[in-house]
Amino acid sequence: MYRSHTCGELRLTDVNQSVTLSGWVQKIRNLGGMTFIDLRDRYGITQLVLDVESNKDLSEEARTLGREFVIQVKGEVAERSNKNKNLPTGEIEILVANFELLNASELPPFTIEDETDGGDELRMNYRYLDLRRNPVRKNLELRHKIGFEVRNYLNQQNFIETETPVLIKSTPEGARDFIVPSRMNQGEFYALPQSPQVFKQLLMVAGFDRYFQIVKCFRDEDLRADRQPEFTQIDCEMAFVDQQDILTTFEGMTKHLFKVIKDVEFDFEFPQMPFEQAIKEYGSDKPDIRFEMKFVEMKDMLADCGFKVFEDAEYIGGICAEGCAGYSRKELDKLTDFVRKPQIGAQGLVYVKYNADGTFKSSVDKFFDEAALTKWAEAFGAKPGDLLLILAGAKNKTQNALCELRLEMGERLGLRDKTKFAPLWVVDFPLLEWDEDSKRFHAMHHPFTSPKKEDLALIETEPGQVRANAYDLVINGVEIGGGSIRIHNDELQHKMFQLLGFTEEEAENQFGFLMNAFKYGAPPHGGVAFGFDRLVSLFAGIDSIRDVIAFPKNNSGRDVMIDSPSPVAKDQLDELSIQLKEIKK
Ligand code: AMO
Repeated sequence: MYRSHTCGELRLTDVNQSVTLSGWVQKIRNLGGMTFIDLRDRYGITQLVLDVESNKDLSEEARTLGREFVIQVKGEVAERSNKNKNLPTGEIEILVANFELLNASELPPFTIEDETDGGDELRMNYRYLDLRRNPVRKNLELRHKIGFEVRNYLNQQNFIETETPVLIKSTPEGARDFIVPSRMNQGEFYALPQSPQVFKQLLMVAGFDRYFQIVKCFRDEDLRADRQPEFTQIDCEMAFVDQQDILTTFEGMTKHLFKVIKDVEFDFEFPQMPFEQAIKEYGSDKPDIRFEMKFVEMKDMLADCGFKVFEDAEYIGGICAEGCAGYSRKELDKLTDFVRKPQIGAQGLVYVKYNADGTFKSSVDKFFDEAALTKWAEAFGAKPGDLLLILAGAKNKTQNALCELRLEMGERLGLRDKTKFAPLWVVDFPLLEWDEDSKRFHAMHHPFTSPKKEDLALIETEPGQVRANAYDLVINGVEIGGGSIRIHNDELQHKMFQLLGFTEEEAENQFGFLMNAFKYGAPPHGGVAFGFDRLVSLFAGIDSIRDVIAFPKNNSGRDVMIDSPSPVAKDQLDELSIQLKEIKK
């Protein structure tokens, strides 16, 4: 028996018990004739004491131990004279009678403490050591708990967890596929699923009715804090449902998770906001509605205003930052630099200070008098003491930039409180989006998404105006999940492929199996997929999903610990009949 108890378990009630513990040496302190060792495992830390007077040899041996050595200890639980109230086991210690070194450790490359001295890259290189640290381990424990509760909830709702294959054919979710060569089918490739989309639809055709799967998905796309090349979805599909049924079911699941995991209760229905409104008021299809600061559009009130920047702009809009009229020149310059950053891309920033004494000071005083600025302030619902921030330019770009500025101001004003949660459903997404580069329509969600019945007539004449039965769950400005009601009829699916520029042959080659399945009594169906990593990081109150994944990739898509991706042996390539082109570094 390696241990009778864990390192987080013993309390005052266990005093005088003989126990055996195993774990890692967190810290050793030598104080006079006493040696104190903090012994750590996943459950906590227990203090061990060795006393030179009672056992000289053992004490000396203990002094040779180092950080992260693995030991087994036998001893007696004693009450501590110097209690540590911050530690659950802080009222006791173990008087060591004997210990055995199970394994030595080299000096770890960074300290295994909550606050470590290790940089990101170093910790990723030694992720197994990083995972010994409390904050990282806690995130994974939270992940486990959420996954467990998801299964619990969906099981109770009659969902069946079904695995779907990983070696498949391209699934069009808008990213590039990872592809895998086939030895047995030379010259041919599998694609890794961007999601199990088509399989879950086939399961509906198969009568499964309610499917879910906590499943790995693979997308070769540029990485960000909320994107990994392999990530996990809570993937779900239901038959005989309309949009509201799905929203109700998954709102229920979300509320359940918040209640059991965070003890947060939502006693209201999640608001539903049409896509168009989200863009108009927040410049984003994933608005952070923890705070208002909605956009005010100004184009109409500024026709022939004499200020060329405004007259030439396709869009002029602004936000009102409450109580910020006192911003210094320096602070305003910083904001201007912020919106000019290449990734934000605004040309400049117009500000209007509505001073506490009711006067105005703006960066456009040359062009606009007090009467004009008073009108602006009215349009913004501004009060003395507020600051108006205005951007002008091409519509999409300016709305995006204003969205970033709004989030930045929200951050500065402390309005993006991580302990507050503001969920909403964004609904009525457009079915298609125009791609200027390829000069054709792309599916905004994916090609299996059903148009709204009432917009069907527009499909031939104004396809860009057709709305879809598609929805996203957004919480605190993060797209947590997305889904849609599907097309379940082969004619409409054909039509959709046509709109997306597939030839009859391409559609047949890529999705013939699905359209064929639709000929055999496909039920109306729809579903949703939650980004599991994003959900966990939201619950953990952290911004990067990397911190909730045991072995994540870095921003170049590399696992630096196992050094992957990496070249393969020539034999392996030969077996696959693959010859590499010369690679320009
Ligand atoms: P979608 O593409 O919107 O929908 O993906 C669903 C959710 O998955 C998460 N997500 C990601 N998380 C981490 N890294 C990524 N690279 C990444 N990409 C997406 C997001 C997103 O909301 N098959 C459809 C679902 C459906 O229609 O039922 C789909 O995959 O949180």
